[in-house]
Amino acid sequence: MKERVERVIFSAETIARRVRELGATISQDYQAGAGRDPHRRPLLVVGLLKGALPFMADLIRAMDIPMEYDFMAVSSYQGRTSPGEVRILKDLDSPVGSRDLLVVEDIVDTGHTLDHILKRLKVREPASLRVCTLLDKPARRQVDVPVDYVGFTLDENLFVVGYGLDYAELYRNLPYIGVLKPEYIR
Ligand code: IMP
Repeated sequence: MKERVERVIFSAETIARRVRELGATISQDYQAGAGRDPHRRPLLVVGLLKGALPFMADLIRAMDIPMEYDFMAVSSYQGRTSPGEVRILKDLDSPVGSRDLLVVEDIVDTGHTLDHILKRLKVREPASLRVCTLLDKPARRQVDVPVDYVGFTLDENLFVVGYGLDYAELYRNLPYIGVLKPEYIR
C-alpha cells in the first residue's frame, strides 16, 4: 500500500514518541486530581470507532493509572465529501453517571462529530469529561469543541490516512500517517 502514499506526514516513530508523551501527561493529570468521581472509580476511556482504535490501543498502554475502556461508534465521512449527519451506531455498554470520562478521537476536523458525542455524554452527567485527539485541524473548525489533549496539529488543509484514519475504509492499517497520491482519490 505504501506505493499509494505521496508523502509521510508523521512516521511510526514520531507517533510512538508523541503517544508516550500523551500517556504520561494524562497519567500525571489524573494522578494529580483531574478526576472528579466522588467514588474514585477508575477512569473510563471512551474510544470512538473505528478511527481511534490503533491510537487508543497504544495510548492506554502508555497510561499508568487504573482505567477501564469502552467504545462508541459514530457514522463518519464517506470518502472525501463533507461531514454528513452524525449518527450513533454503537453506544457505551455501561452507565457513565458520576464517572470520569476521557474521550479518545482520531481527528477533530469541523468538530461536528465530537460536539454531538460530548452533548450525548454530558446529559448522562459524568463526574468529569475530557477529550484526547491524535490530530487536530483547527483551521477547519465549524463548532467550538473543547479538546484537552492533542497529539499533532495539522495546519495545512490535508486529508490524511493511516494509523486508524481511512479513505473509503482503506489505509487504516498503515503504521504511519500520510497523504495519498491524487490518483488514489476518486
Ligand atoms: P468532524 O466531525 O468534521 O470533526 O470529523 C471527524 C471525523 O472525520 C473523524 O473522526 C474522521 O473520521 C473524519 N476525518 C476528518 N478529517 C480526516 C482526514 O484528514 N482523514 C481521514 N478522516 C478524516
